[in-house]
Amino acid sequence: MQSADTPKKVFIKTWGCQMNVYDSTRMQDALESDGYSPTDNMEDADLVLLNTCHIREKAAEKVYSNLGRIRALKKARAETDRPMTIGVTGCVAQAEGKEILAREKSVDLVVGPQTYHRLPQIVARAKTHGPQVDTEYAVEDKFAHMPMATRKQVQARGVTAFLTVQEGCDKFCTFCVVPYTRGAEISRPHAMIMDEARALVDAGVREITLLGQNVNAWHGLGPNGREMRLGELLHDLAQVDGIRRLRYVTSHPKDMDDGLIEAHRDLDVLMPYLHLPVQAGSDRILKAMNRSHTAQEYVDIISRVRKMRPDIAISGDMIVGFPGETDEDFEATMDIVRATDYAQCYSFKYSPRPGTPGAEMTDQVDETVKTKRLARLQALLNEQQVAFNASCVGKTIEVLVEKPGKTSDQLIGRSPWLQSVVVPSHTGGIGDIVEVTVTSANPNSLIAQPAKRIVD
Ligand code: 5AD
Ligand code: SF4
Repeated sequence: MQSADTPKKVFIKTWGCQMNVYDSTRMQDALESDGYSPTDNMEDADLVLLNTCHIREKAAEKVYSNLGRIRALKKARAETDRPMTIGVTGCVAQAEGKEILAREKSVDLVVGPQTYHRLPQIVARAKTHGPQVDTEYAVEDKFAHMPMATRKQVQARGVTAFLTVQEGCDKFCTFCVVPYTRGAEISRPHAMIMDEARALVDAGVREITLLGQNVNAWHGLGPNGREMRLGELLHDLAQVDGIRRLRYVTSHPKDMDDGLIEAHRDLDVLMPYLHLPVQAGSDRILKAMNRSHTAQEYVDIISRVRKMRPDIAISGDMIVGFPGETDEDFEATMDIVRATDYAQCYSFKYSPRPGTPGAEMTDQVDETVKTKRLARLQALLNEQQVAFNASCVGKTIEVLVEKPGKTSDQLIGRSPWLQSVVVPSHTGGIGDIVEVTVTSANPNSLIAQPAKRIVD
């Protein structure tokens, strides 16, 4: 047997959204305080966790194909003094629960997103009592019980950080599993958010991205006991000494209130970037999706935001082939993309998810039609992204230097509009905000040279 003081290692593989990325770091933190150190090498791990995504069928299926491969690793280790423990966490765990154990015998634990604070105990119990399933809903618990990352843990992750302010969704778009896997909307208390932000900045973080499935639905009581919304929270966070950049994802058009739109005008630290998915451009389809807004209302929000912050980059999500989508509906999607002019946008074929109203609809669209529509949409989005990046060439911009580049003479940073920017290594150090002039643009990154000085 492995002795108690041999360091145990955990490998976490993460799929899906930034919420999952954040959750993986918090799981790692919780396990670190239980003696696990992280490893990038799955074969060397004592504990392998697959933090999964259920949003589209492809994402969910990947979990099972991965488990098939990990099964062999576990088998090879079974007779050694370092047996391997395998866990499935995240939204597939929440949605499928004990069915995962039935389908894949090598799994030792299945843990939903609301119970990660209990992870060390669940792992220990799986080792002594056999397979464990924990998919209870107790989201208040999660926020209250997740220990804050230590200074060392934050420092190890670099100069940007995520901070969850809200979780869950009550919107029930008819295509989406999130309301079922992540539960009802819940906001984290103001004081807890401020404390975590201060701790992050103290440990050297310069850019914080507020996270939530519906981040702009965040609301809470401010220090004076008054109810406030995300715009005001951003104002308070902007006051934290040392904070240089703020971002937030993901937003819903319904919750895009004036306070938040005005924050883009009033706060220099709020980066000029807005991820605001619309999903489709036809009012008929938006209604069937239960989005509760029209295409025109979306276009109006975008123009109000642009009035407040003319240089803002708009990003979004689009779905093609929702049940009942005709050629005409799809053309309306192309139209709204033209009207919005995205800097960057994700696009997907509709994937029927079990348990959602969309999956029950009878007028499902043919796969080949979806494929053709997606190709046309992606060609347009790609054109817009390339044009947006090209429009940066010649501009002098501020870049937050984040990490080493592919070669030792390069560093990689982020522009205010979330593009990756490659700069020469003499431009500054990691964590510096440097002024650079963009010399060329690729589809997914910019190349720049130092302009004159380190800004801060
Ligand atoms: N099929 C295709 N795309 C989906 N999304 C969510 N559910 C589905 C689905 N069933 C997309 C939406 C959402 C993004 C996170 O994933 O565009 O905004
Ligand atoms: Fe899913 Fe709609 Fe909620 Fe976004 S707003 S998480 S798409 S149900």
